[in-house]
Amino acid sequence: MCGITGFIGYEEAAPILIRALKKLEYRGYDSAGIAIIHDEKIFVRKMKGRINLLEESLVENPLSGQAGIGHTRWATHGEPSDINSHPHTDSDGSIAIVHNGIIENYIKLKQWLQSRGVVFLSDTDTEVIAHIINHFYRNGNGAILQAVIETLKLLDGSYALAVVCADYPDRIIAVRKDSPLIAGSGAAGSFIASDIPALLEYTHDVYFLNDGEIAVLYRDHIELRGNEGEIILRATTHIDWDAESAVKNDFPHFMLKEIFEQPKAMEDALRPRLKKNDLNNALNNTLIDFDEIKFDENWADARRIVITACGTAYNAGVIGKYAFEHFARIPVEVDIASEYRYRNPIFNKHDIFIVISQSGETADTLAAMRLIKQNGGRVIAITNAPGSTLSREADTTVYTYAGPEIAVASTKAFTSQVMCIYLLALELGRFRGHIQGGLYQKYIAALSAIPAQARQILDKKEVIQRFASRQYNKTKMFFMGRQFDYPVSMESALKLKEISYTHSEAFAAGELKHGPIALIGADTLVISFATQKVLFEKMASNIREVTSRGAASLVITWEGGDFFDTITDETFALPKTEDCFSPLLAVIPAQLFSYYCAIQRGNDPDKPRNLAKSVTVE
Ligand code: F6R
Repeated sequence: MCGITGFIGYEEAAPILIRALKKLEYRGYDSAGIAIIHDEKIFVRKMKGRINLLEESLVENPLSGQAGIGHTRWATHGEPSDINSHPHTDSDGSIAIVHNGIIENYIKLKQWLQSRGVVFLSDTDTEVIAHIINHFYRNGNGAILQAVIETLKLLDGSYALAVVCADYPDRIIAVRKDSPLIAGSGAAGSFIASDIPALLEYTHDVYFLNDGEIAVLYRDHIELRGNEGEIILRATTHIDWDAESAVKNDFPHFMLKEIFEQPKAMEDALRPRLKKNDLNNALNNTLIDFDEIKFDENWADARRIVITACGTAYNAGVIGKYAFEHFARIPVEVDIASEYRYRNPIFNKHDIFIVISQSGETADTLAAMRLIKQNGGRVIAITNAPGSTLSREADTTVYTYAGPEIAVASTKAFTSQVMCIYLLALELGRFRGHIQGGLYQKYIAALSAIPAQARQILDKKEVIQRFASRQYNKTKMFFMGRQFDYPVSMESALKLKEISYTHSEAFAAGELKHGPIALIGADTLVISFATQKVLFEKMASNIREVTSRGAASLVITWEGGDFFDTITDETFALPKTEDCFSPLLAVIPAQLFSYYCAIQRGNDPDKPRNLAKSVTVE
C-alpha cells in the first residue's frame, strides 16, 4: 500500500529510485513518481500507471541528480491520476514530499491553508503536508528540519514521509508514524524505503524507524532524531535475507517462485526449533525448542489462547485453533483483527495471546496487538518481517523465516506460519502432559518429512495446470472440507478470488445443506479437501450432493486409496502424513490452481487488481 523510497549519494538517483520502486511494486499501486534535486532545484516526474511508463519517460527525457525521492501510490483520496500521484510540492516547487498513510484531519488543514491563499492542485490528503512545511519554513528561521517537526505536530493520522527541499540539496528528511519506513547506508549512499527488499541490493544494515522518529539522510551517513529533533544513537539491525530471494530468477512470477520455495520455507521454520535431546534416548531423541519462548507457569496456567490476524494470516490462525485444541487441549478463540479491535473483547489474566502477520505492519493487526497490551496481555507475534512494528512491540516474536514474500497473494508465509503454529501446539501439548514420548516423536518425524513431501506435490504441478486450463472459466468455485480441511478451504478460496477474480467461497462441508447447496449448478466447480480419514464417508456424501447437481469436482486426498475416484471428475493425491498436518500439503495444489487460473484468465498474479500487499491503513 503505497511505496516510498529515497536516495542521496554518489550515483544518479533516478535509476536507483526506479529500481527500488520496482522492488516495492508488490505493495500495490496505480501511479508512480519521483522528485530529483539538481542545481538546487526540484524536478518532479509522475504519472498514472505502471512504473515502466515512468521509466520510459525518464529514458526519453532523463532527470539528472544524485538525490531524490520516489513513490508508488495506491489511491485513497482522489482517483488515480497524474496530478494526484506523488511527489507533491509546495506552491513554489521548492519542497517535495512523498507520503504513505492517511492524514485524517486534512480537510481542516486544507481549509486553513486555502484561507491563507494556498491553491491546491490535487485531491489528495498528502498535498497539505507540502504546503504546511512551506508555511513553517517561510515563517520560521529557515531550517527545514524544524519546519518538518512543526508540521508533524499538526498532522493526525498515519504517515511515512520523505521530504526534499531545494535549499538543502545535501539531505533527505524522513519520518514515520504508524506506517513502515527503514533507512540504511551503503557504499553508493543513503537510502530509505517502505520495506527491506528495496534496500537489499545496497545494504543489509538498516534502521527501523520507530513512530515519531526522524531520519536525516546525508550521502555518507544517517542521523536519527526524535520528534523534537534531539539526536538518537542506535545501532543498525542486520538483515540476513539474501538479495537473490527478492528477484524472480527463472520463474515467470514471484507467486510461482514463492509456491516453489515452500519446502525450504517450511524447513527453515522447522529446523531451528528442533533440538537433539542430550540423553539421546531412542524414543525421545528430538525436542521442539523455541529459543524465543519459555514454557513457564503462564503456559501451565493458561485457560484460553486468543489468536488474532487478518486475511491469510487469520486462516493460519484458524488452523491454530484446530491444532492447539487437538494437541494441547486448550480452548482457542480466533478473531479477525478488525473485528477484535472494535468488539470490546473480554480479557483474562489466564489468556495467551498470539498475533499473526506476515508483514508485521497490518494496521488492524497492530491495533489489536496494542489493545491486548493496554489490557495487560502479553503478545506472542508470529511474523516474517524482522524489525517490523509487530516484532518490535510484541513481547515475544516467533519468526517464520520464510524470506521476503513479494507476490501480493501470500503462499510461503502461510505455510511457514502454519508450521510454527504446529510446533508451538505440539510443544504445548507435551508441556501440558497431553502428548507423550512416542507419539510426540511420531509427530516430529511427520513434520520433518513435510518439506520433502511438498516437493513431491510441486513435481506434479502439471496435473493442476491441466485441470485449471479446463476449469478456469467456471463462474463459481467453491472449496469445502471438514475439521483441518475447513481452514484450508478458506485459504484456498481467498487465494483464488484474489488473483483469478473468480467468485469463490469456502464452507465447512457439513454446512452444505444449510444454504450453500442452493448455489450449486453446472456452472460450478467444487474442490473438496478430504484428508480427515474418520470423515471420509461424510465427505463422500457431500461430494455426491454437489456432483449430482451438475457441479464439476476435484477431490484433494491422500495417495494410495481410491475412495473418492468413482464420485469425482478428478482426484489429486497427496503424499501421506498425519491427518492433522494435512493443511501444510493440501493447500499447495490449491495455490497452484489459483495461480494457473489467474494465468489462464490473463491476470498478473503478482499484482492483482485493487489489492495491496501490506494493508497499513484501515
Ligand atoms: C492474502 C493476503 C492477505 C494478507 C493480509 C494480512 O494472500 O496476502 O490476506 O494475509 O492482508 O497481511 P499480514 O499477514 O501482512 O498481516
